[in-house]
Amino acid sequence: MVDYKKIGLVNTRAMFAKAVDGGYAIPAFNFNNMEQMQAIIMAAVETKSPVILQVSKGAREYANPTLLRYMAEGAVEYAKELGCKHPEIVLHLDHGDSFETCKNCIDMGFSSVMYDGSALPYEENIRISRQVVEYAHKYDVTVECELGVLAGVEDEVSAEESHYTKPEEVIDFASRTGCDSLAISIGTSHGAYKFKPEQCTVDPQTGRLVPPPLAFDVLEAVEKKLPGFPIVLHGSSSVPQDEVDTINANGGALKAAVGIPEEQLRKAAKSAVCKINIDSDSRLAMTAAIRKHMAEHPDHFDPRQYLKPARESMKKMYIHKIINVLGSNNKLQEN
Ligand code: G3H
Ligand code: 13P
Ligand code: ZN
Repeated sequence: MVDYKKIGLVNTRAMFAKAVDGGYAIPAFNFNNMEQMQAIIMAAVETKSPVILQVSKGAREYANPTLLRYMAEGAVEYAKELGCKHPEIVLHLDHGDSFETCKNCIDMGFSSVMYDGSALPYEENIRISRQVVEYAHKYDVTVECELGVLAGVEDEVSAEESHYTKPEEVIDFASRTGCDSLAISIGTSHGAYKFKPEQCTVDPQTGRLVPPPLAFDVLEAVEKKLPGFPIVLHGSSSVPQDEVDTINANGGALKAAVGIPEEQLRKAAKSAVCKINIDSDSRLAMTAAIRKHMAEHPDHFDPRQYLKPARESMKKMYIHKIINVLGSNNKLQEN
């Protein structure tokens, strides 16, 4: 049993309370490899932001669970080395699919887990969520649960259709599960293809697809039912069109990729939404930088040559999100 506090990680409790009060959101960035992790930590340190390092089931399969857990431990030391005396880093399981997966992560030193029972019948979702919460709280690990279904198809997280969270269920769900935060569905979705072209309008000036707005009425109704309770948004990449263009100009073929406009995320971050999940934008930044570098330097074959600009590009993107979208810069308790 690894005590996350002993390796310098923190849970989400104080972080979320401060974010809800302060009208900003904590960035939850997924990582699968060293370059992503370095870029996230460099960005968090430079902006003096708390940060959630997220690990999905797919990431654990790709990189190895033990390695990822030690990378997170290394991340704390790395942040200190970069000059942050008291880093606030959460190691979080993203979309835990069973009690066993959540328990395994808690035992390995995660400071926060998500149990995602959103595709299950309501009572079953409550039953397993409660089981995870009871185990996690013994070790002061915080738990995110989910109500409502996000659309979108991603390797490990898929749903044909979205169902907005029903505000009339949230009090019963939060009180019976004892969860520390609640992921809700208000129109975001996973991946780089968040909306079908027929769901969008077309901007006459640019010819770009404009997605339908998020259901802020659902968010407001949830907030009224659970005042001050930490709310989480998944599927919150914005799919920057300049990155999509760079990928396509350098041999890629991303058609009709569209994300959540940043102004809408900014608005959400000012509400009880205190954790915003971003993964696809990192994938796009990395891929765009690598494709561009490869096209410009066909003679390069040392991975450091193309991973360095890729890491720089992700870092720039994370800094932009922290300062201009989530507003979590300069929000460390100390430093
Ligand atoms: O929510 C999904 C995350 O983007 C993780 O994706 O399961 O492909 O690692 P992944
Ligand atoms: P994106 O695919 O929009 O980046 O969402 C990531 C996410 O929700 C991770 O849980
Ligand atoms: Zn997600």
